[in-house]
Amino acid sequence: MKAVINRRYGSPEVLEIRQVPKPAPKAGEVLIRVHATTVSRTDCGMLRPHPYFVRLFAGLRRPKRAILGMDFAGEVEAVGTGVTSFKPGDRVFGLSPDVYGAHAEYLCVPEKGAIAAMPADARFGEAVVCEGAWYADTYLQGFRLKPGRRILVYGASGAIGTAAVQLAKSYGAKVTAVVATRHLDLVRALGADRAVDYTAEDFTQIGETFDCVLDAVGKTTFFRCRRLLKPEGVFAATDLGPWCQNPLLVIWSLITGSRRVIFPLPLSSKARAFVDFLKTRMEAGEFRPVIDREYPLEAIADAYRYVETGQKTGIVVINVRPPGENAPA
Ligand SMILES: NC(=O)c1ccc[n+]([C@@H]2O[C@H](COP(=O)([O-])OP(=O)(O)OC[C@H]3O[C@@H](n4cnc5c(N)ncnc54)[C@H](OP(=O)(O)O)[C@@H]3O)[C@@H](O)[C@H]2O)c1
Repeated sequence: MKAVINRRYGSPEVLEIRQVPKPAPKAGEVLIRVHATTVSRTDCGMLRPHPYFVRLFAGLRRPKRAILGMDFAGEVEAVGTGVTSFKPGDRVFGLSPDVYGAHAEYLCVPEKGAIAAMPADARFGEAVVCEGAWYADTYLQGFRLKPGRRILVYGASGAIGTAAVQLAKSYGAKVTAVVATRHLDLVRALGADRAVDYTAEDFTQIGETFDCVLDAVGKTTFFRCRRLLKPEGVFAATDLGPWCQNPLLVIWSLITGSRRVIFPLPLSSKARAFVDFLKTRMEAGEFRPVIDREYPLEAIADAYRYVETGQKTGIVVINVRPPGENAPA
């Protein structure tokens, strides 16, 4: 099968599209014929780990995972012994958070992993939305978001931000989305109650306070957002922050008690339940994919270069099979 191999760390030029042996499903595993995947900021971070300590997880001298790609959508090609929930021909989507491997024509995932039947009527390329949404939901769960709570999402135009706006709305929250001018209409269409243009005004001076502030793009700080928080308000960010301050602030705010900082991490053990949940939200029309660009597998290095700019809107899809094969059943 064709796969995108990264044997060493570096720029997208190190990626090689090679023929490698097709995996065979072991007991309890499902072999998926991948139709679509994404290039995410996580993939970019695994290709060029930063800060350096990320290599403790990604591989000290060279990448532990030779094939990246966490989101997948495709058809079940074969199942290992003991598998009862899926059969060949089933259309499925999901996440492979432990082994990655979706930048390839075939991928094996555990039957009990983060895999579900495709949302009704979705194209494969529209279903590869789990990763950013899973991170977004991890923060919203950390906030214990309830109906009527007010949340500000800073950087609401990326994969995590667009998902956070939609999921927060589906939990009944009042959402203020902070984006650049070009994304104002998008976040309104996603359900934001208020859209603020960070290029035109200081988003910290908008005359409102919030129960939760999520920096969905890692570009602001707790100290800048502090004045936006109610006394019992909570701040979270998707990045470590300058000098890794966000995890340290978690400890500090446990001591001080007010205007807390949280830094929840997505747990693989919860990914399956999340994929099932996202399917229900998509089928209810409460969550839709925001697709910026689509690339064929052969042009994946270009996709990495684009995602690395930090300018994408929502997700960047890789069509592993020709898009003509990528239609609802
Ligand atoms: N914690 C985790 O497990 C985890 C995992 C994956 C990723 N991350 C981190 O999460 C962050 C978000 O990931 P993502 O994939 O959602 O990002 P993304 O899709 O790459 O976000 C890009 C968007 O952010 C906007 N943006 C750029 N600079 C901005 C600024 N200064 N203020 C507001 N918006 C800005 C861009 O539009 P404009 O430039 O037009 O504003 C663009 O639409 C990244 O920093 C990534 O490293 C964390």
